[in-house]
Amino acid sequence: MPATYRVLVAGMGKRGMHHAAAFQANPRFELAGVCDIDPARAEAAAAKFGLAAKGTDVRQVASAARPDVFCFCTMPTVRTDMIRAGIDSGARLIAMEKPVALSSREGFAVRKLLQSSGVRCVVSHQHRYGEHYQKVGELIASGALGRVHTVYGTATGWMMHMLSHLIDYMRWFNGGAEAEWVMAQAAGRGKMTDAHPSPDYIGGFIHFANGVRGIVECGAGAPDVPEVDYWWRKCRIGAQGTNGFAEVLTGGGWRAVTGDGGVQSGPGCMNYDLDMPPYVQQMADWLDDANRTHPCNFESAYRGFEIMMALCRSVVQGGQVPLPLTTEEDEIDALNRFLPSRPVILSMPANAKEYH
Ligand SMILES: NC(=O)c1ccc[n+]([C@@H]2O[C@H](COP(=O)([O-])OP(=O)(O)OC[C@H]3O[C@@H](n4cnc5c(N)ncnc54)[C@H](O)[C@@H]3O)[C@@H](O)[C@H]2O)c1
Repeated sequence: MPATYRVLVAGMGKRGMHHAAAFQANPRFELAGVCDIDPARAEAAAAKFGLAAKGTDVRQVASAARPDVFCFCTMPTVRTDMIRAGIDSGARLIAMEKPVALSSREGFAVRKLLQSSGVRCVVSHQHRYGEHYQKVGELIASGALGRVHTVYGTATGWMMHMLSHLIDYMRWFNGGAEAEWVMAQAAGRGKMTDAHPSPDYIGGFIHFANGVRGIVECGAGAPDVPEVDYWWRKCRIGAQGTNGFAEVLTGGGWRAVTGDGGVQSGPGCMNYDLDMPPYVQQMADWLDDANRTHPCNFESAYRGFEIMMALCRSVVQGGQVPLPLTTEEDEIDALNRFLPSRPVILSMPANAKEYH
């Protein structure tokens, strides 16, 4: 195995800078190039990290950087072209940001490209590395909750930002079981024109093959998480079982009540500086050893993405939508045509800063 893996990062905004810093801090990686369509951003990142390979065209930067890892952190409108550029660059692993895509049509295309190329891919659902997330994951896996029957997730941020995270962690808390069908409702058009286009509020049910019920709510009508002050971290994700429950609050630690352990709680708060290092280390582990599959691997993220797109279809079509999806669609376009203009009703006044 090589001592270091060369990395190119494209999209030097908030998340691109986080990724570049985490790769540069890890001795298993060598940051080899940065790219942004905004030349000032590309220049600033190259200066900060001391790189010669930089530019506004990702294919040109890739031919100079010769990456083993092709990382892109662009807005969700840019996916298929980056995956193609990543595959063509000769990289062995593509590291991308969530969401996987903005429609099942693009999601299918991205998955097909990856499967036919054999290039590995990870999707950044890195909240899972938080000590509070890990603790809840360990408690559930230990059997302390008994037989898990329900997993749930809520967030006040909107769907294309937050639902991808919620579903990923709910799937983890449910042992990665496959989903069989979903059913959902949505309200509010305000965020349909956002860079992360979404209904203002979506809520739904997920039926998993192991009989576990998933319940999700995302956006303006989702319940407050009063234990957490910071608006974007008002997320509650947990599991209930025959012997207790355990849940994580993205900005407020974890808590559990189990028959054997009584009431327990502990600290933890989502923190990029703490969450990114193990996320990138596990990319090196997976590149070193094909058996050490990254927990944020594309196939797992894709299962969550399919659930999100199926929830959108249920809003438009009504009723239960079976999984896996077998036909492609543009779900956001369908929502745009379907959602009534009635404004969303907020679950708390603090949501007015985003939704009205
Ligand atoms: N995992 C997380 O916790 C988390 C948190 C925030 C955002 N995100 C996701 O990260 C992604 C980026 O978000 P951000 O907040 O960093 O955005 P940003 O706007 O700060 O950065 C995006 C950058 O991509 C550049 N860009 C756009 N098209 C490009 C192209 N073709 N080639 C090269 N550069 C290009 C833009 O100029 C910009 O600098 C989004 O998909 C978002 O959902 C994830």
